[in-house]
Amino acid sequence: MDTIKNNLPASDGIKIYGFGVVAKGFYDYLQKSNEAERLQIVIIKDASKKRAVINAIIETTNENTIRDKDVDVIVELISSSEEAYGIVAENLEIGKKVISANKKLIAENLQDLISKEKENNGTFLYEGAVCGSIPIIRILNDFYSTESIQSVKGIFNGSSNYILSQLFNKEVTYGEALKQAQDLGFAEADPTSDVGGFDALYKLVILATHSFGKIIHPNEILNFGIENISKSDIELAKKLNLKIKLIAKAELKSGKLSLSVLPTLVDSSSGLYQVENEYNAVEISSENVGVQFYKGKGAGGLPTGSVVYSDLKAIDNNYNYSYGKLNQSNIILDNFSQVDVLIKIPNKDDVDTLPFNVSYLTKVDGEENYFYAKTTLNEIQVNKKYIEQYGISLLFIDNEEIKIQLLSSDEAEVKTINVAELRNWIIKDDDFQLIDVRESSEYEFTNINGELIPLGEIESNLSKIQKDRKVVFQCRSGKRSADAIKLLQKKYGFDNLYNLEGGILAWADEIDSSIKKY
Ligand SMILES: NC(=O)c1ccc[n+]([C@@H]2O[C@H](COP(=O)([O-])OP(=O)(O)OC[C@H]3O[C@@H](n4cnc5c(N)ncnc54)[C@H](OP(=O)(O)O)[C@@H]3O)[C@@H](O)[C@H]2O)c1
Repeated sequence: MDTIKNNLPASDGIKIYGFGVVAKGFYDYLQKSNEAERLQIVIIKDASKKRAVINAIIETTNENTIRDKDVDVIVELISSSEEAYGIVAENLEIGKKVISANKKLIAENLQDLISKEKENNGTFLYEGAVCGSIPIIRILNDFYSTESIQSVKGIFNGSSNYILSQLFNKEVTYGEALKQAQDLGFAEADPTSDVGGFDALYKLVILATHSFGKIIHPNEILNFGIENISKSDIELAKKLNLKIKLIAKAELKSGKLSLSVLPTLVDSSSGLYQVENEYNAVEISSENVGVQFYKGKGAGGLPTGSVVYSDLKAIDNNYNYSYGKLNQSNIILDNFSQVDVLIKIPNKDDVDTLPFNVSYLTKVDGEENYFYAKTTLNEIQVNKKYIEQYGISLLFIDNEEIKIQLLSSDEAEVKTINVAELRNWIIKDDDFQLIDVRESSEYEFTNINGELIPLGEIESNLSKIQKDRKVVFQCRSGKRSADAIKLLQKKYGFDNLYNLEGGILAWADEIDSSIKKY
């Protein structure tokens, strides 16, 4: 058996490319676990830089000392994705075990690198490339290998999340928040990849491969960043008790997969609402497991170094990604499904000249330049240049309650009815229609010949809501039904709607004790 320094077997030997933030964090883990002696060679770019003392040979790229027979494990942690491609590809071609944290390199070349890995019996692991300390690739690859995933979404970029947190919580400008993120080491000197949504896009591509078995090139996916978020966007969101988060999302519906990275309005019912500053989070929804949520530090030397070290330990245990779902599905990429979006147009009078197709457009009440629109990801992607050049800002809405809140932000009067009055109507055989508004099958419910119309489908069920007799709306708490009434009154002119005070909870026992409790 070949041996290397300290009489270690060559299979233990490690060569690191790059010795910046992440490599130093990884080296700290090697030291803590008494494995520093495994490190044989470190390749850096600038020989004149002052560095931490490392007990290994340090060379620059120009010195061209390829002693790769001395090592089995290559840890690629340099900054440039183009140069990293050469390092990773060459080493996979000679069957090495390669670790990388370079999301751009991986997202743009995944098919090619997996082929090289397989053809040459190498290993290629890259947990550090996605969401810093959260071991999300291993979770998806190993634990979700046979589980049917419906969506994977989250906050994948710590820098832009830090900036958004500062904009919401402190009185700072975008420029000040960006500078702070750079000073704290959360954002690069050139922040385009972070704030333009590209970094999150690369990570989404990688997670989509492991979640849905589909390798998609980043160029095929719509991404917007946070550069165009204005003070008025923040003020509007705050007024409605919402936050804006840069959300990367891959969602599968009826065999069609849509992917996007978009600034999105979230309310406090979402786990992502609480994710602040440099933290990242991932939410996985799947058929049998339901929703799982992971949150952790998204960047930094030690958090990322820890998962790079865990890749090393996986290699020591002969672990490889299984890519269990790859090429097994008939999933197709589809960006034609409808999305709801809040559009801000610099000049509100230009709304009629928008070049992209919207299937529905209405003004947001009380807001000068804001419009609510229904369109498709594809329409937005095709018109991305126009949208950016013309200074249109887009905030996405993937939550029905937020949509209703936006469309009924004025305080329209809602007539109410209490339980005693409703009981009188029933006793008197008064003619009324009862509508139960809810999200989905969140509880079982029987009622007095009422009709169930899910909240999200109110507008597609207008013909069912009667205009010539009294209509009582109810929901679990009475709040969502009130919002639905406001929407119907304001947009569709209904004036015969009543909200049941206190919601269903209030009347179950008094009116029909056989009604199931929840
Ligand atoms: N920072 C994070 O929190 C984080 C989190 C997740 C993933 N990542 C990824 O991890 C990788 C490393 O990031 P980092 O933050 O550690 O970068 P960094 O601090 O900028 O360090 C980059 C290192 O790469 C070296 N380098 C550049 N070109 C090289 C070349 N051609 N050959 C050899 N060495 C070269 C530099 O050498 P010199 O020292 O001589 O200049 C430097 O040591 C990147 O792919 C990044 O996207 C970073």
